[in-house]
Amino acid sequence: MAANWKMHKTPAETADFLARLIPLLAPAAAEGAPERARVCDIVVAPPFPCLPAAATAARGAGIELAGQNMHWETHGAFTGEVSAAMLLAVGCRYVILGHSERRQYFGETDATINRKLLAALNAGLRPIVCVGETLAQREAGQTETVLREQLERGFLGIKATQAPPCILAYEPVWAIGTGRTATPELAADAHRYLRQRLARLWGDSAAAACRILYGGSVKPDNIRGLMAQPELDGALVGGASLDPQSFAALVDF
Ligand code: 13P
Repeated sequence: MAANWKMHKTPAETADFLARLIPLLAPAAAEGAPERARVCDIVVAPPFPCLPAAATAARGAGIELAGQNMHWETHGAFTGEVSAAMLLAVGCRYVILGHSERRQYFGETDATINRKLLAALNAGLRPIVCVGETLAQREAGQTETVLREQLERGFLGIKATQAPPCILAYEPVWAIGTGRTATPELAADAHRYLRQRLARLWGDSAAAACRILYGGSVKPDNIRGLMAQPELDGALVGGASLDPQSFAALVDF
């Protein structure tokens, strides 16, 4: 269950969120209490300046951190960018790549996402790669073509041996921040299609092992129906991840 905060919260608000979230969660399995152990991995992606505060506040709580983006180079004259090593140094183990807002507002392409993906894997970060169609593309019957192209171009050159850390997020653009969630069946269809395409790239077993998250207006009142679909392995949550009660309800659904 991954929280993408986008451009929300200060470091102080981050610390406050985690202080309120942690007591609401069942303990992580590794920390004992197996009868009430948490069965899912939790990832929080705050804005870059909040990562040190998040690392301190989340210590020992079984919550992992993600960057919301990164550059493919290790260092250099790239004003406003951060590298994989910088994310690792402030406690991230994951990075979100190719979110539709990055594609839409900041000119990211499948080619740049591919460079970032390679750099993230080389550095040892687990990438959460986002794909998804716009409303116009869905209405024009282009959903599968769009997903196939984003997947094949984004994962170009990634071998089956590099597959295990990779996570895919299906985020239909029309469902993001709109309150218009994909129906569980529609999401399951897209996930099934993505897994088939992953199998073409990597073979069946690597594709089966890849987690595919759903994102787009996931809320405590629709999480059960979505997660009842075996094709959905988790969720990438925006708005509903900003409140500790609501995110805890998603984690412990
Ligand atoms: P919302 O949950 O606010 O629709 O955002 C989804 C998203 O973009 C997660 O990355």
